[in-house]
Amino acid sequence: MKRFSLKFMIFMLLSTFTVLYLYSKVSSSNKYAVNERPVPSKASISNEPTQIEKVVLSFVVCDSRFNESLNVVKSVLLFTRVHVHFVIFADDNLRPKFDETLTKWKQITNNQLDFELHRVSFPQEHEQDWMNLFSKCAAQRLFIPELIPDTDAMIYVDTDTLFLGPVEELWQYFTQFNSSQMSAMSLEDDNPNVSWYPRFAKHPFYGKFGLNSGVMLMNLTRMRTFGWVEYVTPIMLKWKLYIPWGDQDIINIIFHYHERAVHVLSCRYNYRTDQCMYGDACADATDRGIFLLHGSRRAFHNNKQPAFQAIYRAIDEYEIGTDPSKYVLTNMDRYFTEASPSNCGNLKEAFLKVPTKTFSHLYPPPDR
Ligand SMILES: *[C@@H]1O[C@H](CO)[C@@H](O)[C@H](O)[C@H]1NC(C)=O
Ligand SMILES: *[C@@H]1O[C@H](CO)[C@@H](O)[C@H](O)[C@H]1NC(C)=O
Ligand SMILES: *[C@@H]1O[C@H](CO)[C@@H](O)[C@H](O)[C@H]1NC(C)=O
Ligand SMILES: *[C@@H]1O[C@H](CO)[C@@H](O)[C@H](O)[C@H]1NC(C)=O
Repeated sequence: MKRFSLKFMIFMLLSTFTVLYLYSKVSSSNKYAVNERPVPSKASISNEPTQIEKVVLSFVVCDSRFNESLNVVKSVLLFTRVHVHFVIFADDNLRPKFDETLTKWKQITNNQLDFELHRVSFPQEHEQDWMNLFSKCAAQRLFIPELIPDTDAMIYVDTDTLFLGPVEELWQYFTQFNSSQMSAMSLEDDNPNVSWYPRFAKHPFYGKFGLNSGVMLMNLTRMRTFGWVEYVTPIMLKWKLYIPWGDQDIINIIFHYHERAVHVLSCRYNYRTDQCMYGDACADATDRGIFLLHGSRRAFHNNKQPAFQAIYRAIDEYEIGTDPSKYVLTNMDRYFTEASPSNCGNLKEAFLKVPTKTFSHLYPPPDR
């Protein structure tokens, strides 16, 4: 009896150890599975900084801005391989022209882009007020969250902007939003001596210096939840005599009261003549290069800013479907060098750094 129970106890002990051993094997292999790096997908092996597969980009065009806005599209396509969906709001004359050109470009680029065209529409009650604010139809963008209710997020740009780097790098900032942020923009300026808002504004504005809304990441889902469009008309009616920059001022007024909703972008993502005409006022662009150029106050066209015009010309001359690696960078460099001297022109490296780096990824020299 005793001997049996001893044997039994040994048996029990052994089996307990076995079970414990097996359990530890299983759980450690589970742990291993959790820590294991995921099998890299095709996208993450590539040179692209992220796995973003599709970007939504939007702008609003009326009147004479057609050519300029096509250069936004070209500049985006020049520096990326991701799929880009364009959401364009345009007046009745321009929609057929966009349809024709973009359908052609879509075929030529093997469907790298697609697009939707919308008519410009404002709430009927105050249509004239809205149309006359700042420039015709610019205020359209304030209503976008309700006009395209199925779109989650987009990058909005003014038509006088040019990408110099891969659009997915900018899109990536959506992933950095904390839970109270619904929008990302650069500051109008961060030098109180030249910044317009602290010196002249007669209305509330964001932070100490105000925001420039020419480049705006919009999480439309969050803006709808916030009730964005309901804020817009009462603010316009209250302040319409005091807001020279129209929609941008309305955005500043709203975010004055909701600072937590804004993610502030570096000045390199919305680089204007203000950042260089009085000397170098955007250290990040000097350091890492200008990512997006904004030719506000007609800087791409009015012969006052030869550096801005040089970049614009090189992109304007690029034809979709031709091999840009052969001439776009060379032309940028040449037009820049030939331009008459200016403060902005002194910062050549800042202007050319990002396009040069992006092209070396997109068109690597052949292995030898
Ligand atoms: C727009 O581009 C077309 C074709 O390149 C050109 O013929 C036309 O003059 C341009 N219009 C403006 C206003 O620059
Ligand atoms: C926008 O916000 C919604 C709600 O928080 C979120 O589900 C969505 O992923 C966000 N979109 C982007 C592009 O970050
Ligand atoms: C602004 O102007 C004041 C007075 O002229 C000067 O002392 C200051 O350095 C300037 N600040 C900047 C950031 O340029
Ligand atoms: C999100 O970031 C903004 C800006 O830094 C900040 O004001 C806000 O409090 C943050 N929100 C949350 C929920 O942490």
